[in-house]
Amino acid sequence: MLCSGEGSNLGALIAAERAGRLGPARLRCVVVNRPQAGAIARARAAGLTVTVLSHEGYAHREDYDAALVAELRRSNVQLVALAGFMRLVTRVLLDAFPGRVLNIHPSLLPAFPGLHAQRQALLHGCKISGCTVHLVDDGLDAGPILRQAAVPVLDDDDEASLSARILVEEHRLYAEAVRAVAEGRVALSGRRTRLSPAAPDDAA
Ligand code: GRF
Repeated sequence: MLCSGEGSNLGALIAAERAGRLGPARLRCVVVNRPQAGAIARARAAGLTVTVLSHEGYAHREDYDAALVAELRRSNVQLVALAGFMRLVTRVLLDAFPGRVLNIHPSLLPAFPGLHAQRQALLHGCKISGCTVHLVDDGLDAGPILRQAAVPVLDDDDEASLSARILVEEHRLYAEAVRAVAEGRVALSGRRTRLSPAAPDDAA
């Protein structure tokens, strides 16, 4: 997993793996680009390999991504999950893990890509917002959508209350999406994805 911040989605996937809700997926390593990321403590507490790979020392995004790929290869990573990772990735990473880089975003894409998506939805006056798990391409929050969950926007919501309500759904949705990809249950046709249901005897 690639993180930059609090790492609550990392925490949710750690819990999902322990509860047997990630299918064959196993968390192998966490790479953070900010030394103060809360995700570091969460990963260490879970006994995961944590690498702080700051983007500061790299003149070009591609050089950073090459270092990222080398780190991920060292842990024999097969699937990359971005969670609160505040960087645009390049083809260097995407070509190293074709169709295997996921991201979670706190809005119903394609609405409100980029930063402060929850605030954008509030300011726009939306009545429904939500979150999206998508395959990452070289656009900004623009790759094929795997899963979405709708979350109501309440009259007295502020950015914090809406973000907290969306985050609950993010945590559920990401584990479901990671499991589906790990179990090979995702078919892609153009931009459209089709997730076949988990085997009944495996349903958590
Ligand atoms: C989450 O809303 C996530 O969707 C966005 O960053 C926020 C923080 O994520 N990308 P986390 O708590 O660091 O996982």
